[in-house]
Parts: sequence; C-alpha cells; structure tokens
Amino acid sequence: MSQTTVASQTEYNYKVVRQFAIMTVIWGIVGMGAGVFIAAQLVWPALNFDIPWLTYSRLRPLHTNAVIFAFGTSALFATSYYVVQRTCQTRLFSDKLASFTFWGWQLIILLAAITLPLGFTSGKEYAELEWPIDILITVVWVAYAVVFFGTLIKRKVSHIYVANWFYGGFIITVAVLHIVNSMAIPVSLTKSYSIYAGAVDAMVQWWYGHNAVGFLLTAGFLGMMYYFVPKQAGRPVYSYRLSVVHFWALVSLYIWAGPHHLHYTALPDWTQSLGMVMSVILFVPSWGGMINGIMTLSGAWHKLRHDPILRFLVVSLSFYGMSTFEGPMMAIKSVNALSHYTDWTVGHVHSGALGWVAMVSIGAVYHLIPNLFGQARMYSTKLINTHFWLHTVGVVLYIVAMWISGVMQGLMWRAVNSDGTLMYSFVQSLEASCVFIVVGMFIMLYNVVKTVAAEKGALQAEAQPA
Ligand code: HEM
Ligand code: HEM
Repeated sequence: MSQTTVASQTEYNYKVVRQFAIMTVIWGIVGMGAGVFIAAQLVWPALNFDIPWLTYSRLRPLHTNAVIFAFGTSALFATSYYVVQRTCQTRLFSDKLASFTFWGWQLIILLAAITLPLGFTSGKEYAELEWPIDILITVVWVAYAVVFFGTLIKRKVSHIYVANWFYGGFIITVAVLHIVNSMAIPVSLTKSYSIYAGAVDAMVQWWYGHNAVGFLLTAGFLGMMYYFVPKQAGRPVYSYRLSVVHFWALVSLYIWAGPHHLHYTALPDWTQSLGMVMSVILFVPSWGGMINGIMTLSGAWHKLRHDPILRFLVVSLSFYGMSTFEGPMMAIKSVNALSHYTDWTVGHVHSGALGWVAMVSIGAVYHLIPNLFGQARMYSTKLINTHFWLHTVGVVLYIVAMWISGVMQGLMWRAVNSDGTLMYSFVQSLEASCVFIVVGMFIMLYNVVKTVAAEKGALQAEAQPA
C-alpha cells in the first residue's frame, strides 16, 4: 500500500463508507430481485401462491422501498460520506454518529422488510412505513445531517465543492418532506391516520412524492455525478459556473412541480396548471446539468473505449436527459390524459430509476471499491463490461416495452367498447426481461468480493492502450 493510501485511510473514516458501499450492492440485488418477481407476477399472477405476504399489493411497496431507500439511499450515504471527506480534506465530524446512521438505517430497512409483507402500511406511496419506523427515520436522518454538515463546518479548505451543495440540499429537503408528510395520529403501534384530509392530503403526499424524486432520486445523485464523473474521466467539471446555476435553478423549481401527479383530480385547477408550467421549465436546468456532466468528457472521450466504469456514468447521464425530457412532456395536461394510469409512467420511472439512479450508483461503487480496499482497480474489468451491457440492454428492453404497452393502453381506453386485454400482455411480459439486470448485479457482487478478498495492493493498474 502506498504512503498516501495509508495516510488517507487513517485521516478519513472509510469504514462507514465501506459498509454502505457493500450494502448498496446487496440491497441492489434484493430490491431489483423483488422487482423481477413482481414483474413476473403481472404475467403469472399464480406466483403469489395464495399467500397474503406474497401478494403483489404487498410486494410492490417492498420493491419500491428496497430500491429507493435501501439500494439508492445506501449509495447516497456511502458516496456523500466519501465525497464530503475528500473535498473538505477532513475526517467525518463524528465516527460514532456515522456508525449510528449505518446501523440505524439497516434496522429501518429490516423493519420495512418485515412490516410491508405483513400488510402494515400508511397507504401513502413511498411513505408506507408506519409511525414508529417514521420516528426512527427522523432520528437517523437528523444524525446524518449532523455528521454531514458538521464535516462541512470543520473543513480544511475554504471552498465548498458543488457536489456537497447537492448532497446538502438533498439531506435538508428529505428531512422536511419526511416530517411534514408523515404527520399522523397513531391509533395503535401498527396503525395511524394522516393528520391531513381529502385534497390537502393528496397535495401534501405528492409534494412529498415528487420531491422525493427531485431531491433524493435527482439532487443526491447529481452530487454523486459532480464528483465521480470528473474523477473517473480525469477532467475538471466542464463549467463550474453552470453547475452552480444548475443547483439553484433545480432546487427552486422542483419544489413546485408536485401537482403534475394529480392532473384532473379534485385539486384546484390553478395548482395543476402551476405544477405543469413549473415542470416544463424544469427541463432547462435538468438538461443544463446533463450537458455539463457529459461535456466533462471533452478531451477524454477516448477513455470510453476502455473504461466501462466511465461508460456506466456517461450512459446514466443520457438516461437522466431522456427521463427529464419525457417528464416535462408527461406533465402537460393533455399528454398526461393519455399517459396517466398506463405503463408509460412505469417506463418513465425506470428510465430514471434504472437508467439514471442505478447506473450512476453502480459506476460510483465500482470507482469506490478499489479505493476503499487498497487496490488500484477492480478484480476484473471484463466483468464490469459484461455488467454494463447486461444492464444497458435490460433497461432499454424494459422501457421500450413499457412505452409500447403504455401508449397502447392509453389509446385503448379511449376506444369505445374495445376489449383488448390480451393485446399488450406480450409486450408487458418483456418487463420480466429485467432478469438481465439482476444477473448483472450478481456479477458485480462477485467482482466486489474478489476485489475485497485480494491481497492489499495485489491488483495493479492495467496498462491502457493510447
Ligand atoms: C431489475 C430491476 C427492476 C425491475 C424488474 C422492476 C420492476 C418493477 C415493477 C414490475 C413495478 C410495478 C409496475 C406496475 O405496478 O405496473 C415497479 C415499480 C417501481 N419501481 Fe421498479 N424495477 C426494477 C428496478 C428499480 C429501481 C432500481 C428503482 C429505483 C431506484 C425502481 C423504482 C420503482 C418505482 C419508484 C416504482 C413505482 C412506479 C409507479 O408507482 O409508477 N425500480 N418496478
Ligand atoms: C424534469 C424532470 C421530471 C419531470 C417534470 C417529471 C414528471 C413526471 C410526470 C408528469 C409523471 C407522471 C405523473 C402521473 O401521471 O401520475 C412522473 C412520474 C414519475 N416520475 Fe418523473 N419527471 C421528471 C424526472 C424524473 C426522474 C429523473 C425520475 C427518477 C429518477 C422520475 C421518477 C418518477 C416516478 C417514480 C414517477 C411515478 C410516481 C408515481 O406515480 O408513483 N422522474 N414524472
């Protein structure tokens, strides 16, 4: 191990980063495995074996919670703890509190994995967990904020690198969203009722829901992008000024867009129109950020030929661009009249979730693992490449299938007296093609285990063809 690696490992707290990074891979397999299982249930409903715990209605929230809060959020914890230390050149504010966030978060995931199949739910999408778990989430999240902002405060450099702005914005906003949306009156240990009623409840729920997308699935991962894309490409961010404009424009616009989830509902019409307009404008900063990320490769495009990690990161940005073009379009009321209640939404979700969120996380974890375990590279670059292709083909098949079946569903619902139930079941069955993606994740796990198990420093950098 080189001198610098030894120095940095004592100076920085890498233990908690390692823990979260490994759990990202494991929760990725569990969450995406659950996705494949529920996709298969859509085609073969008998797969619930008439057992209540295995019904689609209970496993679907298990899938969404596992991928967003176990897989995605573990990746955010790992990378934010790493990035804040590296860019502030200081150790985490408190090792004990950081360790508490790791174990606390794993406990929350475990409780979710038990209570959701048992049918305990608040009924609010992406906020299904019942009140005792909600309180635990709040405690762990506040500890996370203390560790992150405490580290920023004791930084040894005066500048706060832009990735930290995105991570910081994500941490504060998720705290506010979670606390406001989870306000409920408990009637027992496992049941509570929201303090909001009717249209107000719906409005608060989708203010939360959309901003969980905007701040957790977007801002947090943009923080990741602004550190790992320049690092892996070996180039500075294309335009630092644009990244700062990107941050302020994104955070000030996202917060207004929630009502696009409630078009043609009891929500006052003007709020729907406001949500639509803000969503359409949101296209601009989203693409500004995407272009900034992709253009960071200026002068390093040739690296894409040999570096599958960089490929994961760059393709994730293309999916980010695609989903943030599609989203504003779907927010237009007349388009939403067709897309809402169809697989088109599910396709949009996964071009963002599997294309953007999962690919940027996978790229970042492949970058992190050798750095965290004293190696120059992952055990096998070939296997990263195989993973890249399995994932990319899987995502493309998935979202194209969803577009086709979604638009067909939308059009069929408009046709009078047409009973076309079987017309799209073939395309829908392609949803199960995501099995590729999970195979890719198993390959990742194997590669990670081999890297971690290799003797320290044994994996030397590969000679790169010019
Ligand atoms: C192998 C990978 C995956 C498969 C096979 C899969 C499959 C599915 C299926 C079948 C549904 C239900 C769709 C419906 O009710 O019609 C779903 C919903 C959802 N999935 Fe996945 N998924 C995968 C990965 C992911 C990842 C990585 C994320 C997030 C990071 C994610 C986020 C979501 C969300 C947010 C929903 C709810 C969508 C909505 O309510 O409109 N999924 N997924
Ligand atoms: C400019 C950015 C975006 C806009 C304006 C936008 C807009 C929309 C719209 C209009 C819907 C359909 C609402 C409905 O008919 O019910 C939707 C659904 C959704 N979008 Fe986006 N989207 C954007 C980016 C993203 C990204 C990057 C992701 C994921 C990483 C994402 C995740 C989701 C999810 C999870 C849903 C389903 C929510 C549900 O019904 O359960 N969106 N989005």
